[in-house]
Amino acid sequence: MEITDLARMIGELEEIGVVASGSRENESLVILYEGMEKNVTNETLVLIDNRNGNKVLAICRGGFGVNDALRAVNYTPGVAYARRGGTASTAKEFYAFRLVVVGDVTSGKILQNMTIVAPGSKVYKFNVRTNPMEFLSTSTQRVGYYATGFKTWEVPVQAEYISSHIGIFGVTGSGKSYLCRHQVIPMLMRNGYDVLILDWKGSDYTPYYSDRVINMGDVELDDASVTDYLASALNYFGGGDTGSRLVNYLDEVIATTEWRGIDELATKSNLLSNLESVIRADNTDQSGRLSRWGDIYLRKVTRAFDKLDAAELRPVMGTKRPGEIIRELREKHLLVLDLSYGAKEQKLSMFLSIARYLKRLMEEKQELRIALVIDEAPQYCPWQPKGLEERTTKMLTELAALGRSYRLALTLVSQGIAGEIGINAAVRRNLNTLFIGRIHPLDAQEAEKFFATSLVQSDQLLRLPEGHFFLIGKLNPSPVPLLITFEIPEEERRGGR
Ligand SMILES: Nc1ncnc2c1ncn2[C@@H]1O[C@H](COP(=O)(O)OP(=O)(O)OP(=O)(O)O)[C@@H](O)[C@H]1O
Ligand SMILES: [Mg+2]
Repeated sequence: MEITDLARMIGELEEIGVVASGSRENESLVILYEGMEKNVTNETLVLIDNRNGNKVLAICRGGFGVNDALRAVNYTPGVAYARRGGTASTAKEFYAFRLVVVGDVTSGKILQNMTIVAPGSKVYKFNVRTNPMEFLSTSTQRVGYYATGFKTWEVPVQAEYISSHIGIFGVTGSGKSYLCRHQVIPMLMRNGYDVLILDWKGSDYTPYYSDRVINMGDVELDDASVTDYLASALNYFGGGDTGSRLVNYLDEVIATTEWRGIDELATKSNLLSNLESVIRADNTDQSGRLSRWGDIYLRKVTRAFDKLDAAELRPVMGTKRPGEIIRELREKHLLVLDLSYGAKEQKLSMFLSIARYLKRLMEEKQELRIALVIDEAPQYCPWQPKGLEERTTKMLTELAALGRSYRLALTLVSQGIAGEIGINAAVRRNLNTLFIGRIHPLDAQEAEKFFATSLVQSDQLLRLPEGHFFLIGKLNPSPVPLLITFEIPEEERRGGR
């Protein structure tokens, strides 16, 4: 913001109170002028005209009202009067807000505030003509608007940190998918990222981008993903050492079995007979006799295949290769993979297949400029991953690390942050920008860690209305979390979704 005359700007603002005693550089208290308690609310942005010489931007967080006549710890005439239903005197009443300092804005842009805020300094509230967001950054990239401000107070973001990955958290119905569709995805695209959305339920994105949807059954899985998926569908041949030996045989067979263009039953019988041949070849002595182990292997294989429904092979019979999907993504700039059809293993295998392809491109040092939006992230990288989830969790940490250098930006969406309802800690550590909406009580402790020294308490996070999110981290030009919200387009509100 070009502020040639900050003093003149202050002249335009509404004076709301003065700084109380005990103030510090990063935190202080404002005593509100009489009547101001009605129009200064939690999260109101204010400017402190610091008597010590600088101008300080701050946020009201945690207000309280005091009336000495109504102290409930001892009996006073005021209390006696209140007991009988009378209105107590307001002569000794005042309201105050704690202020969390955002920074020093004397120069027109935000710097760390190093000067103690002087008690008695005047505090001002911004109005519709003065937009405090201009202090934060000159970036033209924006998400939503400052929730207690005006719609014109769009929040600037430091878009160069998109590939440091994003996490979106909030309980069901808190507005995560809406935030993604209306704010995050458009922001990614404006910054030149092609966006690939993995729609786990097929209901959050698929209906809104109907001309750009790929069904999971159409996608060709790579051999490793086919093995992963089939091993899981075959129940790992009963597990144990024998089971893992048989998975190795299966791996060998996958590469040589014909998948595409034939029906499931034929595929199943080809697969079984190829597997049997490999086992026989490997477990037969010179005289042509099958060893005792060979016999056990064959029996286990037969049993596992008897239980396999040929229809379960359908997901591995698609013909669209990851390379083709990425080519299509480049043309259309946004694609949704509808994962609603199929079991969890199929969905994860498909993710792995595409992820391996992207990883290979990055290992070849290609800059991708691709954003992966993963809704229902705990399905891929839960707290304690098991089976295929171990692969997908590891893959996500690898993609995150490579992605920072080669611009593969992850956006993970989850109802919970940590623990049983959250996402894996190793993956979470890689998310450098967070949008935190209404949280689950189980997450209260975890969430507060992100708000250390910024005066946001979990009781506030537990009550956030839908569509309200705190923006924290790299994308946020402010060192303290900002509460943002956004508008849903008229036609969608009417649609009642
Ligand atoms: N900015 C907003 N303003 C007003 N209402 C909103 C806003 N964003 C979302 N909502 C409302 O919240 C509802 C739930 O939103 P959404 O489907 O995005 O939740 P979600 O967090 O993705 O839930 P789930 O975890 O169940 O997928 C929407 O139907 C919409 O009506
Ligand atoms: Mg959702």
